[in-house]
Amino acid sequence: MHKVLVLVGSLRSGSINRKLAGALEKLSSDRLAFTYAKLGDLPLYNDELWNDPPAAVTKLKADIEAADAVLFVTPEYNRTYSSIIANALHWGSRPYGKNSWSGKPAAITGASPGAIGTAAAQALLRSVVLHLDSVVMGQPELYLQVKEGLIADDHTITNEGTEKFASGWINAFADFIDKHK
Ligand code: FNR
Repeated sequence: MHKVLVLVGSLRSGSINRKLAGALEKLSSDRLAFTYAKLGDLPLYNDELWNDPPAAVTKLKADIEAADAVLFVTPEYNRTYSSIIANALHWGSRPYGKNSWSGKPAAITGASPGAIGTAAAQALLRSVVLHLDSVVMGQPELYLQVKEGLIADDHTITNEGTEKFASGWINAFADFIDKHK
């Protein structure tokens, strides 16, 4: 069983990205154990705070380092990934020389009501996560357009084809972790 730290880039209680993360958790529960980073507890990045680092920051870095892999589930805001994800990336990358993301197996996905299903956001996020020296799964890719009812409250994906594709994707990530852990 691989430990996966999940970073959901939305704080909304009704977040479709949180629903997608829950669906992926359910589809891989025999291979992956998810824990969810509390990105809402992080202060906005401020270099001065390293003088006395906030507990949420030290916890994030420890959680990244203890995980076998990280999974980013991002909304798309104005054709990029959310500021909540950006803030977590910055905190995890510092202090200089202590980049917690380095060498970490990672995968990126996201959900939007829009037809491109976070493709623009994911492309930008991928370039930054690669810069941070994580080992990012290139294929397959999962861009999800989420309409009302696609993911039920119990995190079941109600469309059979979509469920099969999502299952293949998260199992490919489990295989990727097997290889790169
Ligand atoms: C959006 N949304 C959006 N959707 C998209 O597909 N491409 C985009 O560029 C944007 N831009 C955008 C900007 C801002 C400021 C907001 C608030 C929203 C819509 C977005 O995908 C939608 O609100 C999702 O439901 C957000 O994800 P969560 O919170 O449901 O996980």
